[in-house]
Amino acid sequence: MNLKTLEDMGDLSGKRVFVRVDFNVPLDEAGNVRDDKRIKFAIPTLKYLLEHGASRLVLASHLGRPKNNEPELKTDKVAAKLAELLGEPVSKADDWGEKGLPEAKIVMLENIRFHPAEKSKDEAERDAFGKQLAGLADFYVNEAFSNSHRKHASMTSIPKFIPGYAGFGVEKEVKAIGKALSDPEHPLIAVIGGLKADKIKAIHNLMGKADKVLVAGALACNLLKAKGYEIGASKADNEGMEEQADLVKEVVASDKVELPTDFVVADAFEEKANVKTVPADGIEPGWMAMDIGPESAASYAKQISQAKTVLWFGPIGVFEMAPFAGGTKAVGEAMAALSGVTIIGGGDSASAVKKLGLSDKMTLVSTGGGASLEMIEGKELPALKVLKK
Ligand code: 3PG
Repeated sequence: MNLKTLEDMGDLSGKRVFVRVDFNVPLDEAGNVRDDKRIKFAIPTLKYLLEHGASRLVLASHLGRPKNNEPELKTDKVAAKLAELLGEPVSKADDWGEKGLPEAKIVMLENIRFHPAEKSKDEAERDAFGKQLAGLADFYVNEAFSNSHRKHASMTSIPKFIPGYAGFGVEKEVKAIGKALSDPEHPLIAVIGGLKADKIKAIHNLMGKADKVLVAGALACNLLKAKGYEIGASKADNEGMEEQADLVKEVVASDKVELPTDFVVADAFEEKANVKTVPADGIEPGWMAMDIGPESAASYAKQISQAKTVLWFGPIGVFEMAPFAGGTKAVGEAMAALSGVTIIGGGDSASAVKKLGLSDKMTLVSTGGGASLEMIEGKELPALKVLKK
């Protein structure tokens, strides 16, 4: 995707830049930032803009999914965290209008989703808000890859009124995932796990691109069930399965798609449950698949070790519980040992890799769950489309 990037912005002396960041970060009980990865991710772009003469940065983010402008979802704490990481004062504005802006070089607006027009279904309403926000700056930068699948005012409307560019983080993620999908070094192996059945679209799209799609997580149980296997009490997300029945048929018939041949099963969804390993066709009623078995883990790890590009989306098993972390560990370690391109997508896989201490060994740990998933489904992200050259 040919996006306009920071290098295309030209001279920024005296220019005000609106930067849409995704500081939708986990908070602890006291409302403090628990994981600042997404804030750190935006720093190079913010520094670049300041170093290239921008006179003011106006930052906006959403935080959570507010229903009633809940005070715990105000952006004060993320603004404070940003100030700490950037080493520059950041003023918090309680509003989104010109009048609400303090006289400061770096201003963080209030949670953009507190404004009803941000997520309005009515494009004209979103555009009217986008126009108001655009009035705060001369240029727009999207440094919120992880929200780029959302058609929201601060994502898609502002660049209709002022020139829009992709930040370094967006550029990096789009390049890495885009190349892995359109021009990868083969063999390309995709590992798709997790719970949600909506990943079947991604598997289907990857069948045409990858040399092998290795399926894991509860998702594997969905597909085994579709093949007529007994899956006992395994968690299988049924949402949308009927609507995508044709896709499912193609997926289970494809020789590109590999399902686990064995599972670690438990008689309860608990770390201390009774546990055993069974073949994929041996899950008894009352037992649930909690992880792929050692045979599948070894096969997946071997195939990964022979790949040149690996995409991994969604956990392999219930890795938070030690007896069911074997598959996740095998896949993570095989990827970490690879000299080729390794891309992790989705919040749970990113947490798994972090827990294994392997994040630094990967080419890219994407900040975006939904956004990167939509890319591998083959969809064009609306907030990137508006930044095309
Ligand atoms: C995310 O955390 O994936 C993004 O910030 C998007 O958030 P949303 O799913 O609430 O739109």
